[in-house]
Amino acid sequence: MADREGISRAAARLREGGLVAFPTETVYGLGADATNADAVAGIYAAKGRPSANPLIVHVGNLEQAARYAEISTVARRVLEHFWPGPLTIVLPRKAGCALAQAVSAGGDTVALRVPAHPLAQTLLDEAGCPIAAPSANPSGRISPTTAQHVLNGLPDAGILILDGGPCVNGLESTIIQLTNDGATLLRPGGITPTELAAVIPKLRDAEAVKPHAPLPAPGMLESHYAPRLSVRLNAMEVRPDEALLAFGPAIPGAVRVAQLSEGGDLAEAAHRLFSALHALDEGSGYASIAVMPIPQEGLGLAINDRLKRAAAPRQ
Ligand code: TXA
Ligand code: MG
Repeated sequence: MADREGISRAAARLREGGLVAFPTETVYGLGADATNADAVAGIYAAKGRPSANPLIVHVGNLEQAARYAEISTVARRVLEHFWPGPLTIVLPRKAGCALAQAVSAGGDTVALRVPAHPLAQTLLDEAGCPIAAPSANPSGRISPTTAQHVLNGLPDAGILILDGGPCVNGLESTIIQLTNDGATLLRPGGITPTELAAVIPKLRDAEAVKPHAPLPAPGMLESHYAPRLSVRLNAMEVRPDEALLAFGPAIPGAVRVAQLSEGGDLAEAAHRLFSALHALDEGSGYASIAVMPIPQEGLGLAINDRLKRAAAPRQ
């Protein structure tokens, strides 16, 4: 586990333009100083990320966020409610702000988040700069929820990895966009639609907007979170060449099983999802992963979103 000294070293590495992988309450991020264009370019290179896919910028609090984005009264109310925590908001970039253009992939918006993890907060504090950080996995692959996942996925990238143990939530942040004509859900995540509804009564689904607008979250590609093995959803039986991702009592006869939640608890399933996929993917002798049905409610929306992309035809 990272100690105070490790965090100080990581903060120094960030200030020098290096890359640091660090835990948040959602998943591990691959961080760089968001004001340093070369450092941000290093993130894209290490992940093999398409340059059209913008990055989330992590800051310590709302006041820091206001240096980089135009925060309306409505947005402020939402953020005071959910920050620190697993909510990312896409807002207009402040003209002339210090952020590298690449964090916005050349666009005029920026995605911002204040992470709740104490290690991430200390790192932000010591580094003294905003930290651009996508999930710390090769582009298109399964997100990391442990330091070991980061090391396995990005072994040669010269990245300093801060180990903060397994991520508590295990699923990425919920992303919303707020504009003058309302709020749109760009990515389901750790904050559920029910929780959002308490503060944002009318939230549109990005799926509903898609046919009329350019892709609102450019990273929400069909195939993503892809394990090496293929993925089959809503499995009611297990074939001989399949490993099983179980939710509730496992289908009888399955030999290799990863359990999301024996008791059918969605928070437990979210916490375990990526770890379970990583684990099944490392086993040999199987061709695919059969996934038992998961209810499409609460955190189940975000879990099913990730599984749908894991199962999508690969590009
Ligand atoms: O929980 C999380 O959000 C984690 C931790 C590390 O904070 N980060 C994360 O980053 O999931 P990433 O890059 O894997 O996913 C960010 C998503 C991508 O789909 C990207 O396209 C979208 O956010 N995004 C970033 N900036 C955007 C912007 N300005 N407008 C629209 N979408 C944006
Ligand atoms: Mg990601």
